[in-house]
Amino acid sequence: MIDPFTSTVRGMTEPNPVFAALREGGPVVVADAPAGGPVWIVTDEDLAKEVLSDPRIVKDPAMAPLDWDPFKAGLEPTAAQRPSLTTMDGPAHTALRRAQAPLLTGKRIREQQDRIEELARDLLSSYSGVVDLMADFTTRYPLTVLLDMMAIPRENVDRAVDGCRQMFAGDQFGAIQALMDVAATARDGGIAAELRDRMPPDTPEEEVRYHLFGLIFASQVTTDTALGFVIARTLGTSDGDPVEETLRQNPPAPFSLWRFTAEPIDLAGMHLPERAPILVDIGGLGLTFGAGPHFCVGAQLAQAELRGVETVLRRDFPSARLAVPYEELQQIVLGGIGGSRLKELPVVLR
Ligand code: HEM
Repeated sequence: MIDPFTSTVRGMTEPNPVFAALREGGPVVVADAPAGGPVWIVTDEDLAKEVLSDPRIVKDPAMAPLDWDPFKAGLEPTAAQRPSLTTMDGPAHTALRRAQAPLLTGKRIREQQDRIEELARDLLSSYSGVVDLMADFTTRYPLTVLLDMMAIPRENVDRAVDGCRQMFAGDQFGAIQALMDVAATARDGGIAAELRDRMPPDTPEEEVRYHLFGLIFASQVTTDTALGFVIARTLGTSDGDPVEETLRQNPPAPFSLWRFTAEPIDLAGMHLPERAPILVDIGGLGLTFGAGPHFCVGAQLAQAELRGVETVLRRDFPSARLAVPYEELQQIVLGGIGGSRLKELPVVLR
């Protein structure tokens, strides 16, 4: 049986064997879910697009298998506990998208491109000697950019970095609280205040802050891992475009987030009961930012940051180089929906 959930270490240039195995397994592959029972993994592109838009397949963790431990399964709070883009479905989700999507349109992001590059240049300039860019930069930079757009004072970036690290250490409640506290410091004039204005006037402040937490965390966890590969490729190889190759070969979200059947359904000739967990192999299918109503709201920002760092390295740090051979870099494959992250990225910038 294919096991996409085990954490492993691979060389930078080694292909992911799980992608290939899933391809050969047919349009829907059944695997053992880490929290118990089966998971149905969709590997066919047309079927994937259907699944990502099917109203009978929902994101609310309230519909997870009843015997799953939400912590072991890494589930988000349910939509009733914490309304959010990633856990709501149907008209309530559409209304929330209408409030959030205008904050991060391509036009808005293009207007920020100089600022996005300036922040990368400033942060990279603060390091000297041999620096492991995975130790601080890749975590800090996406947070610096988004907090800047949210008009959250710069001194809060350290708290946001700590909050994200809390999440990786398994303290979901602590991390949510830390990032909501950071969101609470937003001033007028940024996209945080704009989101508050776009929400219905009776929306509790706590709920707005949870949406801001969602944006902050979703932007950090994905861009962090992608940045490592983009920088490694920019400095270590002339094969292909560093941003495009990274999004294709090292997608930060190799699988969709969890989905569950709200009623029994048939999928590619298989019968799935109610509460069946489904993942879509979006990495293997090249749907890096997803598809359908939950398509990534930050896709433009993510690409602007990745391209911005590549541009800044080439333009402002012309003698930057890897401190180890490109082929010797190693990636930790987190397993499951987590993607891969370079273990270390030692670089000399000047
Ligand atoms: C390279 C970086 C990124 C990748 C590969 C990525 C990928 C994805 C994918 C695949 C989804 C859909 C998940 C699903 O349907 O189950 C998604 C959703 C989402 N992304 Fe991203 N993302 C990235 C960066 C960002 C950034 C920078 C932000 C915020 C500023 C962001 C915010 C979100 C949000 C809020 C959702 C939920 C949308 C919804 O459910 O309606 N992402 N992302």
